[in-house]
Amino acid sequence: MSGAPIPAATLPVSARAPGKCIVFGEHAVVHGRPELLLAIDLWTQVLASPAPSMRLNGDPAAIAENAYVRTALAALWPPGAPSVDWRTVSTIPRAAGLGSSAALSAAMTAAIFAARGGAERSEVAEAAFRLERDAQGIGSPGDTSASVAGGLVTLNAEGGSLLWQLTHEERSWTVRRVADPGWVWVVAYSGVPRNTGDAVRSVGRRLAEPDGPRLLEEFESVALAGIDAVRNEDRELTGQKMAENHELLRRVGVSHERLEALLDAVRPVAAGSKLTGAGAGGSVVVLPRAGREVEVLQRLKRAGGQAYVVRAASAGTGLVTPGSEPSAPTS
Ligand code: PMV
Repeated sequence: MSGAPIPAATLPVSARAPGKCIVFGEHAVVHGRPELLLAIDLWTQVLASPAPSMRLNGDPAAIAENAYVRTALAALWPPGAPSVDWRTVSTIPRAAGLGSSAALSAAMTAAIFAARGGAERSEVAEAAFRLERDAQGIGSPGDTSASVAGGLVTLNAEGGSLLWQLTHEERSWTVRRVADPGWVWVVAYSGVPRNTGDAVRSVGRRLAEPDGPRLLEEFESVALAGIDAVRNEDRELTGQKMAENHELLRRVGVSHERLEALLDAVRPVAAGSKLTGAGAGGSVVVLPRAGREVEVLQRLKRAGGQAYVVRAASAGTGLVTPGSEPSAPTS
Protein backbone atom coordinates (compact mmCIF):
# COMPACT_ATOMS: atom_id res chain seq x y z
CA MET A 1 0.00 0.00 0.00
CA SER A 2 1.75 3.16 -1.12
CA GLY A 3 -0.99 5.52 0.09
CA ALA A 4 -3.53 7.83 -1.50
CA PRO A 5 -3.04 8.37 -5.26
CA ILE A 6 -2.50 11.79 -6.81
CA PRO A 7 -5.87 12.59 -8.41
CA ALA A 8 -6.49 14.02 -11.89
CA ALA A 9 -6.82 17.82 -12.04
CA THR A 10 -7.27 20.46 -14.71
CA LEU A 11 -5.03 23.54 -15.03
CA PRO A 12 -4.38 25.61 -13.00
CA VAL A 13 -3.01 22.91 -10.70
CA SER A 14 -0.95 23.36 -7.55
CA ALA A 15 1.09 20.77 -5.63
CA ARG A 16 3.28 20.95 -2.56
CA ALA A 17 5.93 18.68 -1.09
CA PRO A 18 7.82 18.68 2.22
CA GLY A 19 11.57 18.95 2.80
CA LYS A 20 13.42 16.30 4.76
CA CYS A 21 16.26 15.58 7.10
CA ILE A 22 18.21 12.37 7.41
CA VAL A 23 18.40 10.95 10.92
CA PHE A 24 20.57 7.91 10.09
CA GLY A 25 22.44 6.49 7.12
CA GLU A 26 23.16 9.26 4.58
CA HIS A 27 25.92 8.35 2.11
CA ALA A 28 25.84 4.67 3.14
CA VAL A 29 22.34 4.52 1.58
CA VAL A 30 23.84 5.31 -1.83
CA HIS A 31 25.69 1.98 -1.42
CA GLY A 32 22.46 0.14 -0.53
CA ARG A 33 22.69 0.39 3.29
CA PRO A 34 19.81 1.39 5.65
CA GLU A 35 18.61 4.96 6.14
CA LEU A 36 15.98 6.75 8.27
CA LEU A 37 14.49 10.02 7.01
CA LEU A 38 12.06 12.48 8.49
CA ALA A 39 9.91 14.58 6.15
CA ILE A 40 9.82 18.01 7.84
CA ASP A 41 7.15 20.66 7.89
CA LEU A 42 8.99 23.05 5.55
CA TRP A 43 7.46 23.05 2.07
CA THR A 44 7.94 23.76 -1.62
CA GLN A 45 4.79 24.58 -3.59
CA VAL A 46 4.37 24.81 -7.36
CA LEU A 47 1.46 26.34 -9.26
CA ALA A 48 1.05 25.52 -12.96
CA SER A 49 -1.16 27.98 -14.88
CA PRO A 50 -1.79 28.21 -18.64
CA ALA A 51 0.56 30.71 -20.35
CA PRO A 52 1.48 31.67 -23.94
CA SER A 53 4.89 29.91 -23.59
CA MET A 54 6.64 27.67 -21.04
CA ARG A 55 7.95 29.83 -18.18
CA LEU A 56 9.40 29.52 -14.70
CA ASN A 57 8.18 32.26 -12.37
CA GLY A 58 7.17 34.31 -15.41
CA ASP A 59 10.57 34.01 -17.14
CA PRO A 60 10.86 31.82 -20.30
CA ALA A 61 14.69 31.75 -20.02
CA ALA A 62 14.65 30.48 -16.40
CA ILE A 63 13.51 26.94 -17.36
CA ALA A 64 16.81 26.13 -19.05
CA GLU A 65 18.69 27.39 -15.97
CA ASN A 66 16.89 25.15 -13.44
CA ALA A 67 18.06 21.53 -13.88
CA TYR A 68 15.12 20.06 -11.91
CA VAL A 69 12.39 21.96 -13.76
CA ARG A 70 14.08 21.44 -17.14
CA THR A 71 14.50 17.69 -16.51
CA ALA A 72 10.92 17.30 -15.24
CA LEU A 73 9.41 18.97 -18.27
CA ALA A 74 11.64 17.13 -20.76
CA ALA A 75 10.79 13.74 -19.19
CA LEU A 76 7.14 14.14 -18.20
CA TRP A 77 5.36 17.02 -19.93
CA PRO A 78 3.71 15.50 -23.03
CA PRO A 79 4.72 17.01 -26.40
CA GLY A 80 1.89 19.23 -27.65
CA ALA A 81 0.43 19.77 -24.15
CA PRO A 82 -0.45 23.40 -23.37
CA SER A 83 2.29 25.83 -22.28
CA VAL A 84 2.42 26.60 -18.61
CA ASP A 85 3.91 29.17 -16.26
CA TRP A 86 5.41 27.28 -13.27
CA ARG A 87 5.36 29.45 -10.15
CA THR A 88 7.44 28.12 -7.24
CA VAL A 89 7.59 29.18 -3.60
CA SER A 90 9.55 27.46 -0.84
CA THR A 91 10.30 27.74 2.86
CA ILE A 92 13.19 25.23 2.56
CA PRO A 93 16.68 26.79 2.40
CA ARG A 94 18.43 25.83 -0.86
CA ALA A 95 21.62 23.74 -1.13
CA ALA A 96 21.35 23.16 2.62
CA GLY A 97 20.74 19.38 2.75
CA LEU A 98 17.14 19.89 3.85
CA GLY A 99 15.53 18.45 0.73
CA SER A 100 14.75 21.52 -1.35
CA SER A 101 15.60 19.79 -4.63
CA ALA A 102 13.69 16.62 -3.67
CA ALA A 103 10.65 18.70 -2.71
CA LEU A 104 10.79 20.63 -5.99
CA SER A 105 11.12 17.35 -7.92
CA ALA A 106 8.21 15.76 -6.01
CA ALA A 107 5.90 18.78 -6.29
CA MET A 108 6.63 19.20 -10.04
CA THR A 109 6.06 15.47 -10.62
CA ALA A 110 2.76 15.49 -8.71
CA ALA A 111 1.47 18.56 -10.57
CA ILE A 112 2.44 17.09 -13.96
CA PHE A 113 0.90 13.68 -13.17
CA ALA A 114 -2.29 15.37 -11.92
CA ALA A 115 -2.55 17.32 -15.20
CA ARG A 116 -1.93 14.07 -17.12
CA GLY A 117 -4.84 12.28 -15.39
CA GLY A 118 -3.54 11.24 -11.96
CA ALA A 119 -1.09 8.57 -10.73
CA GLU A 120 -0.39 6.11 -7.94
CA ARG A 121 1.81 7.56 -5.19
CA SER A 122 4.46 4.91 -5.90
CA GLU A 123 4.62 6.17 -9.52
CA VAL A 124 5.21 9.71 -8.24
CA ALA A 125 8.00 8.40 -5.96
CA GLU A 126 9.62 6.55 -8.86
CA ALA A 127 9.42 9.50 -11.28
CA ALA A 128 10.60 12.06 -8.70
CA PHE A 129 13.61 9.82 -7.92
CA ARG A 130 14.55 9.49 -11.63
CA LEU A 131 14.15 13.22 -12.09
CA GLU A 132 16.31 14.20 -9.09
CA ARG A 133 18.90 11.60 -10.00
CA ASP A 134 19.10 12.70 -13.64
CA ALA A 135 19.37 16.37 -12.61
CA GLN A 136 21.99 15.59 -9.92
CA GLY A 137 23.81 12.77 -11.71
CA ILE A 138 24.07 10.52 -8.63
CA GLY A 139 22.20 9.52 -5.48
CA SER A 140 19.60 7.35 -3.74
CA PRO A 141 15.77 7.63 -3.68
CA GLY A 142 15.79 8.55 0.04
CA ASP A 143 15.09 12.28 -0.22
CA THR A 144 12.36 12.05 -2.85
CA SER A 145 10.72 9.06 -1.10
CA ALA A 146 10.49 10.95 2.20
CA SER A 147 9.06 13.97 0.41
CA VAL A 148 6.45 11.90 -1.45
CA ALA A 149 5.48 9.79 1.59
CA GLY A 150 5.62 12.38 4.43
CA GLY A 151 6.24 11.32 8.06
CA LEU A 152 9.16 8.95 8.77
CA VAL A 153 10.45 6.37 6.30
CA THR A 154 13.25 3.83 6.18
CA LEU A 155 15.20 2.54 3.23
CA ASN A 156 16.55 -1.01 3.30
CA ALA A 157 15.57 -1.80 6.91
CA GLU A 158 13.20 -4.59 7.93
CA GLY A 159 9.86 -3.87 9.65
CA GLY A 160 7.01 -1.46 8.97
CA SER A 161 4.59 -1.48 6.05
CA LEU A 162 6.02 -1.49 2.53
CA LEU A 163 5.54 1.76 0.57
CA TRP A 164 7.53 1.05 -2.62
CA GLN A 165 10.69 -0.48 -3.99
CA LEU A 166 13.02 1.37 -6.38
CA THR A 167 16.05 0.21 -8.32
CA HIS A 168 18.87 1.80 -10.25
CA GLU A 169 21.40 -0.34 -12.10
CA GLU A 170 22.51 -3.00 -9.58
CA ARG A 171 21.17 -1.13 -6.48
CA SER A 172 17.72 -1.63 -4.97
CA TRP A 173 16.01 0.27 -2.15
CA THR A 174 12.91 -0.86 -0.21
CA VAL A 175 11.00 2.06 1.33
CA ARG A 176 8.91 1.42 4.46
CA ARG A 177 6.83 3.45 6.90
CA VAL A 178 7.98 4.09 10.50
CA ALA A 179 5.47 5.39 13.07
CA ASP A 180 6.19 8.96 14.20
CA PRO A 181 7.26 9.03 17.87
CA GLY A 182 5.91 12.61 17.94
CA TRP A 183 9.24 14.19 18.88
CA VAL A 184 10.13 17.80 18.16
CA TRP A 185 13.43 18.13 16.26
CA VAL A 186 15.57 21.16 15.44
CA VAL A 187 17.45 21.56 12.15
CA ALA A 188 19.90 24.33 11.38
CA TYR A 189 21.61 25.41 8.16
CA SER A 190 25.27 26.35 8.64
CA GLY A 191 25.13 28.90 5.81
CA VAL A 192 27.76 26.91 3.90
CA PRO A 193 26.22 25.71 0.60
CA ARG A 194 27.42 22.40 -0.78
CA ASN A 195 26.97 20.14 -3.77
CA THR A 196 25.43 16.73 -3.08
CA GLY A 197 27.03 15.10 -6.13
CA ASP A 198 30.56 16.23 -5.20
CA ALA A 199 30.15 14.99 -1.60
CA VAL A 200 28.71 11.62 -2.71
CA ARG A 201 31.60 11.09 -5.15
CA SER A 202 34.22 11.99 -2.53
CA VAL A 203 32.70 9.56 0.00
CA GLY A 204 32.55 6.92 -2.75
CA ARG A 205 36.32 7.31 -3.23
CA ARG A 206 36.89 7.04 0.54
CA LEU A 207 34.76 3.88 0.72
CA ALA A 208 36.78 2.33 -2.11
CA GLU A 209 39.84 2.26 0.23
CA PRO A 210 40.70 -1.05 1.94
CA ASP A 211 38.74 -0.26 5.14
CA GLY A 212 35.66 0.86 3.12
CA PRO A 213 33.66 -2.38 3.49
CA ARG A 214 34.21 -2.35 7.28
CA LEU A 215 33.11 1.30 7.48
CA LEU A 216 29.95 0.47 5.54
CA GLU A 217 29.21 -2.36 8.01
CA GLU A 218 29.55 0.18 10.86
CA PHE A 219 27.20 2.63 9.11
CA GLU A 220 24.71 -0.20 8.74
CA SER A 221 24.81 -1.43 12.34
CA VAL A 222 24.52 2.13 13.74
CA ALA A 223 21.57 2.93 11.45
CA LEU A 224 19.72 -0.31 12.27
CA ALA A 225 20.20 0.23 16.03
CA GLY A 226 19.10 3.86 15.64
CA ILE A 227 15.97 2.90 13.68
CA ASP A 228 15.04 0.39 16.42
CA ALA A 229 15.58 3.11 19.05
CA VAL A 230 13.17 5.45 17.21
CA ARG A 231 10.62 2.63 16.88
CA ASN A 232 10.91 2.03 20.64
CA GLU A 233 10.59 5.79 21.28
CA ASP A 234 13.92 5.62 23.18
CA ARG A 235 15.18 9.22 22.97
CA GLU A 236 18.49 8.64 24.78
CA LEU A 237 19.51 5.65 22.66
CA THR A 238 18.43 7.46 19.47
CA GLY A 239 20.65 10.39 20.48
CA GLN A 240 23.60 8.09 21.20
CA LYS A 241 23.27 6.45 17.77
CA MET A 242 23.07 9.91 16.12
CA ALA A 243 26.42 10.78 17.74
CA GLU A 244 27.93 7.51 16.51
CA ASN A 245 26.59 8.14 13.00
CA HIS A 246 28.11 11.63 13.02
CA GLU A 247 31.49 10.20 14.02
CA LEU A 248 31.37 7.84 11.02
CA LEU A 249 30.50 10.77 8.73
CA ARG A 250 33.51 12.66 10.12
CA ARG A 251 35.68 9.66 9.34
CA VAL A 252 34.57 9.64 5.69
CA GLY A 253 35.42 13.33 5.48
CA VAL A 254 32.10 15.19 5.19
CA SER A 255 31.97 17.24 8.38
CA HIS A 256 32.91 20.93 8.32
CA GLU A 257 34.14 23.36 10.97
CA ARG A 258 30.84 25.31 10.82
CA LEU A 259 28.89 22.08 11.43
CA GLU A 260 31.17 21.14 14.34
CA ALA A 261 30.61 24.62 15.87
CA LEU A 262 26.84 24.14 15.72
CA LEU A 263 27.07 20.66 17.24
CA ASP A 264 29.38 21.90 20.04
CA ALA A 265 26.88 24.68 20.83
CA VAL A 266 23.95 22.31 21.46
CA ARG A 267 25.67 19.36 23.11
CA PRO A 268 24.61 20.22 26.73
CA VAL A 269 20.90 20.39 25.82
CA ALA A 270 20.73 17.71 23.09
CA ALA A 271 19.92 14.02 23.43
CA GLY A 272 21.69 13.66 20.07
CA SER A 273 22.94 15.67 17.12
CA LYS A 274 24.71 15.12 13.83
CA LEU A 275 25.21 16.57 10.39
CA THR A 276 22.30 15.74 8.09
CA GLY A 277 22.43 15.16 4.33
CA ALA A 278 25.54 15.21 2.21
CA GLY A 279 27.60 17.34 4.65
CA ALA A 280 30.72 19.32 3.66
CA GLY A 281 28.60 22.28 4.76
CA GLY A 282 24.82 22.11 4.79
CA SER A 283 22.86 21.40 7.95
CA VAL A 284 22.68 19.65 11.32
CA VAL A 285 19.76 17.82 12.93
CA VAL A 286 19.30 17.89 16.70
CA LEU A 287 17.06 15.75 18.90
CA PRO A 288 16.67 18.01 21.95
CA ARG A 289 16.53 16.66 25.49
CA ALA A 290 12.82 16.59 26.42
CA GLY A 291 11.63 20.17 27.05
CA ARG A 292 14.91 21.82 25.88
CA GLU A 293 13.73 22.61 22.30
CA VAL A 294 13.78 26.40 22.73
CA GLU A 295 17.28 26.35 24.25
CA VAL A 296 18.50 24.23 21.33
CA LEU A 297 17.03 26.76 18.91
CA GLN A 298 18.60 29.71 20.73
CA ARG A 299 22.02 28.08 20.97
CA LEU A 300 22.02 27.23 17.26
CA LYS A 301 21.06 30.79 16.35
CA ARG A 302 23.74 32.26 18.62
CA ALA A 303 26.29 29.97 16.96
CA GLY A 304 25.32 31.39 13.55
CA GLY A 305 22.87 28.72 12.34
CA GLN A 306 19.62 29.34 10.47
CA ALA A 307 17.54 27.17 12.80
CA TYR A 308 14.03 25.70 12.54
CA VAL A 309 11.96 23.75 15.05
CA VAL A 310 10.35 20.96 13.03
CA ARG A 311 8.07 17.98 13.46
CA ALA A 312 7.50 15.11 11.08
CA ALA A 313 5.45 16.51 8.18
CA SER A 314 1.89 15.34 8.71
CA ALA A 315 1.41 14.89 4.95
CA GLY A 316 3.49 13.86 1.98
CA THR A 317 3.38 15.34 -1.49
CA GLY A 318 -0.14 16.33 -2.49
CA LEU A 319 -2.29 18.65 -4.54
CA VAL A 320 -3.29 21.93 -2.98
CA THR A 321 -6.92 22.70 -3.61
CA PRO A 322 -8.60 25.71 -2.02
CA GLY A 323 -10.27 24.70 1.22
CA SER A 324 -8.62 21.26 1.52
CA GLU A 325 -5.40 19.86 2.93
CA PRO A 326 -3.15 17.31 1.16
CA SER A 327 -3.58 13.69 2.26
CA ALA A 328 -2.25 12.46 5.61
CA PRO A 329 0.97 10.38 5.71
CA THR A 330 0.44 6.93 4.31
CA SER A 331 0.70 3.88 6.53
O1 PMV B 1 21.25 16.33 -0.88
P1 PMV B 1 21.41 15.98 0.57
O2 PMV B 1 22.34 16.83 1.30
O3 PMV B 1 20.09 15.82 1.26
O4 PMV B 1 22.09 14.53 0.62
C1 PMV B 1 21.39 13.38 0.27
C2 PMV B 1 21.88 12.21 1.04
C3 PMV B 1 23.01 11.42 0.41
O5 PMV B 1 22.94 10.14 1.02
C4 PMV B 1 24.35 12.05 0.72
C5 PMV B 1 22.85 11.26 -1.09
C6 PMV B 1 21.64 10.45 -1.50
O6 PMV B 1 21.20 10.64 -2.64
O7 PMV B 1 21.12 9.63 -0.72
